[in-house]
Amino acid sequence: MKGIVLAGGSGTRLHPMTLVASKQLLPVYDKPMVYYPLCTLMLAGICDILLISTPADLPQFRRLLGDGERLGIRISYAEQPRPDGIAQAFLIGRDWINGEPCALILGDNLIHAENLSALLCDVGSRPYGATVFAYQVRHPERYGVVSFDAGGRAVEIVEKPTTPKSNWAVTGLYFYDARVTDLAAAIRPSLRGELEITDLNRLYLEDGSLTVEKLSRGCAWLDAGTPNSLLQAASFVQTIQARTGMLIGCPEEVAFRMGYIDAARLHREGEKLGKTELGRVLVELAEGRLT
Ligand code: G1P
Repeated sequence: MKGIVLAGGSGTRLHPMTLVASKQLLPVYDKPMVYYPLCTLMLAGICDILLISTPADLPQFRRLLGDGERLGIRISYAEQPRPDGIAQAFLIGRDWINGEPCALILGDNLIHAENLSALLCDVGSRPYGATVFAYQVRHPERYGVVSFDAGGRAVEIVEKPTTPKSNWAVTGLYFYDARVTDLAAAIRPSLRGELEITDLNRLYLEDGSLTVEKLSRGCAWLDAGTPNSLLQAASFVQTIQARTGMLIGCPEEVAFRMGYIDAARLHREGEKLGKTELGRVLVELAEGRLT
């Protein structure tokens, strides 16, 4: 399975911070925002990743992440010249996807959960259909919203409804089978002029091949698209890391734990981070002083 990180858009809700800097490169506590969704794909066992961003921002992502070799993965890059919608990622990435199943994660989504890797590897191994994740939120009207019938089956997905039928938001992590590029090509722009990911999900829903996985209360799903949510995400990461010593959203650590890189490589990556706490933790992990 392949995976796309979509890090485009103009980040208008974070102006003036994003007037000259990409939203997905802003710090979430001690790492660039894009590290978090990148880690989520890596935890799903995905090692072939396409990062899509604006022509102006793409060079910086390349400088930060390179070809992925130091993480034992492969990272490619593609431009989204205009913010024409999330589903456009599959048209931009069509040749790169090359008829394979493909996951997509939005560059501002942070998911932290117990046993996330096992869940995502399982979802990624499903040969047919699509899987999205639903999470209960206080303000569902800000998201794609999925509603369920009495038997718990998903019956409807609506993008930013004014009167939501449930409080289950659809997160920005999606898994699709090999039909995804053809189905994305069939979508027409919405009233706001975008190729909506919700319309793509609706095609799978109507086809009877959409699975909606409910994320439990023990999970954290955060997005970092506004000043408040950016601060909340940073506080969350700082709190958990300081308290437990475990890292959130560190691709070097994930690469090591997933077996993409060995201890010697992890050690070098930790040393490169110099005297930072992050660097120290990676070195300790590489030396077997942390589990
Ligand atoms: C997008 C999707 C929405 C989804 C959300 C998750 O919204 O359109 O369906 O619930 O991401 O982060 P946006 O953040 O582009 O407003």
